[in-house]
Amino acid sequence: MNELNAPGAGGAAGAPRTTSQTTPQTNRLVLRRPDDWHLHLRDGAMLKSVVNYTARQFARAIVMPNLVPPVTTVAAGAAYRQRIFDAVDPAYNFTPLMTCYLTDTLDPAEVERGFEGGVFAACKLYPANATTNSSAGVTDIAHVYPVLETMQRIGMPLLVHGEVTDADIDVFDREAVFIERTLSKMIADLPGLKVVFEHITTADAVAFVESAGPNVAATITAHHLEISRNAMFEGGLRPHHYCLPVAKRERHRLEVRRAATSGSPKFFLGTDSAPHEVHAKESACGCAGIFSAPVALESYAKSFEEEGALDRLEGFAAEHGPRFYGLPLNEERIAIERRALDVPERLEAGGAEIVPFHAGKSLEWRYAGVIGA
Ligand code: DOR
Ligand code: ZN
Repeated sequence: MNELNAPGAGGAAGAPRTTSQTTPQTNRLVLRRPDDWHLHLRDGAMLKSVVNYTARQFARAIVMPNLVPPVTTVAAGAAYRQRIFDAVDPAYNFTPLMTCYLTDTLDPAEVERGFEGGVFAACKLYPANATTNSSAGVTDIAHVYPVLETMQRIGMPLLVHGEVTDADIDVFDREAVFIERTLSKMIADLPGLKVVFEHITTADAVAFVESAGPNVAATITAHHLEISRNAMFEGGLRPHHYCLPVAKRERHRLEVRRAATSGSPKFFLGTDSAPHEVHAKESACGCAGIFSAPVALESYAKSFEEEGALDRLEGFAAEHGPRFYGLPLNEERIAIERRALDVPERLEAGGAEIVPFHAGKSLEWRYAGVIGA
């Protein structure tokens, strides 16, 4: 336990900052309790170390299935959900929403059974070898059409890691090429399928989602609102800013920011918080992933405030996602306060260490807990 994952009002109280402002400044915001629509919790000791950072802030989270081996059966999804419940501090009211990992050979009946039985909330499409633990992913979208047709029929969302994997495609172009080569056709072939284009990073993805029907939405991470690709090379190689899809040029970040803060119901919060031990990041072949869970709401609040859109944070964080998924909005309320949060350089994780997003920086907003809790 530390102040970023302890139950209660979110850490030691400091005096609110006073500023000599001439315009009124919001110093406290009360929001409907948010959800995280894209999260990596891992398993075992790592799960126990990271889950309470999320459970502290979020009521629900869509949990990614890229374990080793991946979650591809109803039994595996139910067992993983139980391990998550067992790892959550009882002080928190937190519900994990489980996902099924699509493979070339997955049986549509298993997916349907998982959805109808309340175990799986969605399926995740990883193009094979696109990212961490995706070697069992889909090698050709045609192989999963029977599953996608079933999902369309039953109203089950498909969550897409939207990048091609071809070695000859520049890593910065892989999202845009995926739209051209795969996503456009898939959505045309399955016009009723609910699709979440996950962790979008480009102006191309924003335009695609905005021009698609209401059954196509996107999640946006805290880090893609904050960093462009320059952050990976600032004075040297910065492995803790390496994730997939990789951060793009500044003009893309600005367009993703515009979408997130636009108020459009098509865009909602999904951190893609993805913990890796420090040695796995600071390595000759470092893993992709940014661990943003400990500072998730604080980071989103920073971006939204910079865009003059704090009034739109609640829709993005707590309303658009559940409406898209067809789930009830959370009734609890939380508060965030303008009070400096100094982010540690490292956090302890089951005997190892993880570097959180914004490590060593001071953030202006601080999560202040569930109201009345
Ligand atoms: O940066 C990422 N990390 N992107 C992903 O798609 C997977 C994730 C992970 O599991 O580490
Ligand atoms: Zn992810």
